Formats: sequence, C-alpha cells, structure tokens
Amino acid sequence: MTTSPRKILVTSALPYANGPIHLGHMLEYIQTDIWVRFQKQRGETCTYICADDAHGTAIMLKAEEQGISPEQLISQVQAEHIQDFEDFSIDFDNYYSTNSRENKELSQLIYNTCKDRGYIAERSITQAFDTEKKLFLSDRFIKGSCPRCKTADQYGDNCEACGATYSATELLDPVSTLSGTTPVEKESVHYFFKLPEFEAMLKQWIRSGTLQESVANKLNEWFDAGLQEWDISRDAPYFGFEIPGTTDKYFYVWLDAPIGYMASFKNLCDQRPDLDFNEYWDKSSKTELYHFIGKDIINFHALFWPALLYCTDFRTPTAIRAHGFVTINGKKMSKSRGTFIKARTYLNHLHPEYLRYYFAAKLTSSTEDLNLSLEDFRQRVNSDLVGKVINIASRCAGFINKTFSNQLSPEVSEPALIEEFISAGDSIAEHFETLEYGKAVREIMALADRANQYIDEHKPWQKIKDAGNELEVQAICSMGLNLFRILMVYLKPILPGTATQAESFLNVEPLDWHNRGQLLVEHRINKFKPMMSRIDKDKIDTLLTATTAETAREMAGNKLLKASPRKKKPAPDPIGATIKYDDFAKVDLRVARIVEASKVDGADKLLRLTVDIGLGTGVAGYKNIFAGIKLAYKPEQLEGKLTVVVANLEPRKMRFGISEGMVLAAGPGDKDIWLLEPDQGAKPGMRIK
Ligand code: 2FM
Ligand code: ZN
Repeated sequence: MTTSPRKILVTSALPYANGPIHLGHMLEYIQTDIWVRFQKQRGETCTYICADDAHGTAIMLKAEEQGISPEQLISQVQAEHIQDFEDFSIDFDNYYSTNSRENKELSQLIYNTCKDRGYIAERSITQAFDTEKKLFLSDRFIKGSCPRCKTADQYGDNCEACGATYSATELLDPVSTLSGTTPVEKESVHYFFKLPEFEAMLKQWIRSGTLQESVANKLNEWFDAGLQEWDISRDAPYFGFEIPGTTDKYFYVWLDAPIGYMASFKNLCDQRPDLDFNEYWDKSSKTELYHFIGKDIINFHALFWPALLYCTDFRTPTAIRAHGFVTINGKKMSKSRGTFIKARTYLNHLHPEYLRYYFAAKLTSSTEDLNLSLEDFRQRVNSDLVGKVINIASRCAGFINKTFSNQLSPEVSEPALIEEFISAGDSIAEHFETLEYGKAVREIMALADRANQYIDEHKPWQKIKDAGNELEVQAICSMGLNLFRILMVYLKPILPGTATQAESFLNVEPLDWHNRGQLLVEHRINKFKPMMSRIDKDKIDTLLTATTAETAREMAGNKLLKASPRKKKPAPDPIGATIKYDDFAKVDLRVARIVEASKVDGADKLLRLTVDIGLGTGVAGYKNIFAGIKLAYKPEQLEGKLTVVVANLEPRKMRFGISEGMVLAAGPGDKDIWLLEPDQGAKPGMRIK
C-alpha cells in the first residue's frame, strides 16, 4: 500500500529543439498530462517536468543552414514548443532545456563517477569523415548504393529496397549528404559506457514490475543478442557539453538527454522550497518516478538510463510507460501524403480538447499504434462530447436559468442514481491509474447515456407546459445538473478547459475526485454558455489542405537547399535578348487551382500562393509560388480560383522563401493586374498549348 499523498515525479520524452511539435508527439504529452492531472485531482503530490532536447549534430547543422547560432535556434524553437504545449493545456511544472548549467553539472558528475568507478572504456574507432565539412558522419548523413542489391540512394545503415543491414563503410559509391563529397575513413578516440557490466542489475530491475510486457520482451531480445558497450562520445565540432579532461570530445546527445530530466527537476527545486531534489533522486528514495516515452526509445530508457543511474548511486525509475505511434487514416504520418500535421496547424483549425478526448478514448496501456481516423474523430467528438455530455447541461440549464432564477432544488429526487454515478468513480480511477483511458472513457460515456436517458424519461420540456409541475421540472433538471457535475469530475483530466467552464457555470469549487459526492442542493448556478461546438466536415478538410500546403512549401525549400548547397547565382540574362522558338516551346503552361493564398510579412506586393497543378495527389501536386499581385487581390478572393502557371520554372530562392513557378497575369501593374481565369471546364493539370 502506498501512503497518501504519494510523491510522484513524471516526465515525457524531451522533444528535439530543431523542429515543430506534431500530432505524433502530442499523443505522448496528452497521455502524460492526463495521468498527471488525474493524480493531482486525487490529491497526490505529482510533479511533471520536461525540457527541450537541445544538443546534437542535427541541431548544429540546422542552425548553420539558417545562418544563426545553435543557441538562437534552440531558444526560438523552445518558445514555439512552449506555446504549442500551453495551447494544448499540457501543464508542465517545469519546462527547461538540456543546454543548461544544471544539466552540464549533472552530466559531468555522472560521467566522472562512472569513470572513477571504472565503467568508462576508451578506444580508437574508425568512422566515415567528410573532409570538406570536417565532420564525422553518422549513418544518416551518408548515402550510396546498397552493397547487396545495388539500389542507389540508400542510407548508411540499411537498404530500404532489400532490407539489408550493413555498416556505412560497405556502401558502394558513398557520398556525404552534407557536401556531396566522398567520405574517407578516419580514426578517433571514443569513450564507452560499460553496459554489459550491468546485465544482472538490469535483469533484476526489469522483474520489479517496471515494464509493460511488450517492452520487457523487446529488452530480452537485446539481452539475447548480448549487451554492447555504449559509445557516449562524439568528436568536435558538436553542439553539446565537452567531456571533462578533453578538448575535442563531447557527450553524445543521448547521454545528457535523460539527465535533462533530473536537471529540469533540479531547476524547479531551486524555485520551489517544497521540493527536495535528493528526496526524489537518492538511491533510497521512497518517491515514484515514471518516464512516459514512445516505443522507439526504449533502449535508452530501460537499458542505458537505469544502468547509469545505478552506477552513480541514484534511484532507478519506478516504471517506464511506453506508447505506440500515431497513424492517420490507417497509415504512418507522412509528408508526401500531407498527413504530417503539426500541433500549430491543428490548433489553427480545431479545439485542442477534441484531440485530447479522441486520444484518451482510444488509448490503452499497450504499445500498439493509435489510429487517428479523421472521420471517426469528428463523429466521436460530435456524438460523445457535444451530443451526450454537454447536451445534459444544455437541456437542463435553460429551465433552471429561466424559470427558477438559477436556483436548484433543495434535495435530489433520485439519490440511488446519484450514488451509481459516484461509485463508478472507483473503477474509472483504476482505469486512469493503469493507463487504460479508453476503458475510463467508455464507462464515463455509459454514465452520460444513463443521464440522458433519465432526462428523456422525465421529459421536462413537456411537463413545464402544464401548470403545477414546476417543482417537478426543477427537480428533474437539478438531478440532470448533479449528474453532469459528477461526469465533469471524471472528464476533468482529459478536458481541463471544459471542466473549468463547467465549474464556473455550476458555480462550484474546483472539481476533485474526493468531493465528487458533494451534492448541489439549494444552490445557485450561473447562466449556461455553450462549452463546445460540433466539428463540421469542412474544418477537417481545411486542416488537411493547410497541412498539405505547408508541407509542400517546406519540401520545396529543402529540395532547393539539397540540390545546390552553395550554388552561385547565375548571371541574369541581358534584357531584351531574343529566345529561340524551341526554348519558348519548353515553357510548360498549366491550369492550376489556388489552394491557399496568404500575405507575406514584410513584402508590399507579394502574395504567397499554394497552387494545385493536378500532377499528383496531395503534396506531390502542389507548388509554392510568390506572385506580385497583392495590390490587385485580397488572399481570400483567390482561394479556389483557377489560373495559369508556368509549371516547369526552376525553383528560385527569394527573400521570403522558395518560389516554384510563376503565375501568368497581365495588366499595367499595381491594382490592375488580371490573372487569367480559364473557362469552367478547365481542370488543374491541363496543359495550355
Ligand atoms: O527521440 C527524441 O525525440 C529524443 N529527443 C527524446 C529524448 S528523451 C530523454 F531521454 F531525454
Ligand atoms: Zn539493397
């Protein structure tokens, strides 16, 4: 039996500081946040921490590409992450960065302790090296032909065509994806953590109820294959922490990332006198520690991390909670399918609590993937949240607000039904505790059905028509609102914003698990305001269109950067030079539909257009074009219109981004520019000859 209140420290995986949060990430933060809110609502002392994972080659290169320092990049990205999380109501107690003083100190402490105790090995290894970029290349940055099936353009670790796995040195005709040059082999000294020495400890740790079955099975595969020493160092240049005693070696990002959990907590302890770092991290700690992660990073959390902690006399995690991946409409999230939906794009079109609800309704404690079927999502939110739960309040509130001056009855007319709702809280709580949110939601919705059935049976809308029934109508609606209140207690971890609205409508203290039995009798409520609206089909379409358009823009930018990393601008053609008819005939004019049009910050005349040239589905058929027509058209006038574009123009980098074509227009300029608007029969992709 755990004593109450429990002291619990919870983490979600730290997102990399080089890219936006997407819906795949959001599954984890929503899953964790629901659990943390549930614990807090039960009165436990629960602390939720996270941070940006700010180190590594990818971040260093991205900053370089953008012409800014890594520090600038990580602080920009961190600000975006924080805003996304806040808007999804992810309630971290602290959100920090791994590039922090605390993390440096703790990483050095952990490394030095491992070294002093003899658990760090040092030896020379040979790796691919880019002589132009002066950088050792990880497998991701080397491409070549597969040594087995000879398929070109394969990464340095495995072949997507035949599935062969190999080392980068075996690739045929290898090239560095960073410079296009052929890598050479070069030796350098690396530092290794002696993981095999912890095999017995890890095997025992795994048996202490720390892991889900599928995770334990995965770990057994690693044990069967034999544990290997873990390379925890990277050569300069690298964005990270220097290894003590060296000048050109850095900790591998995956060494200091999990230590970032401790560092973020340490940073919080320094602001909160009620939290004691040692109480949570000492070897003898009685507190609980849970890491929520995706199933792709199990080895880091269930092998390296507990071994490092054990080696350095810190406590090991109570449990690792791994989840599966998000699929969209049954398929992996994909840029080319236009389903790589960013958190921000979602937020621009839909209410965050719709997604929190849908994920909760489908989450289990397993590592199976979760399918976000967009039509199912729409129907489920509409029927469960709007049609069932909120409906209870809106059906009852009208009468209480209008006919009874906001006053509820002096007693509940069906205490047995209320009791049924209250006692259901025990099994619902058990489902939240064990991460079976889907089961919790099913029970809550069964109660919502029961409440609606109660109102249907008592028909207050009919009874109010006959004089003398007023008290009965007041009693029915008071019952309905009491049932609604209990439902909102149970939904609060999932729908915190809606719960706050419900608290203010019901005029009650914050709803918590233990006060769920308090009845609202002789109580005044406030005026009902709609809390949530239905999702229209076109909202989903707009979200997908926006995602596709955005992805197309980004891919155009990347293509250009990759095709010519440092190409000099060609000299402009002399004005008035003639062209040959054959050259003119090369111009590919196509009908295009303007999918999205928007203003460009800082540009007086330009609009950014995403056009569908009909030559592929989704992103493949979209182009991003800057057109100097802002003075003549408002963006909203253009969306959906057909026009003609030069479809085979070489992409061009402009100050505001990449333009992949040209829109044909005529007129003297400024306000008088006319886009060609082909006949009704024209379709995107038609060639104009
Ligand atoms: O896989 C990732 O996105 C990593 N940035 C997660 C790090 S989790 C922890 F170890 F810091
Ligand atoms: Zn192959």
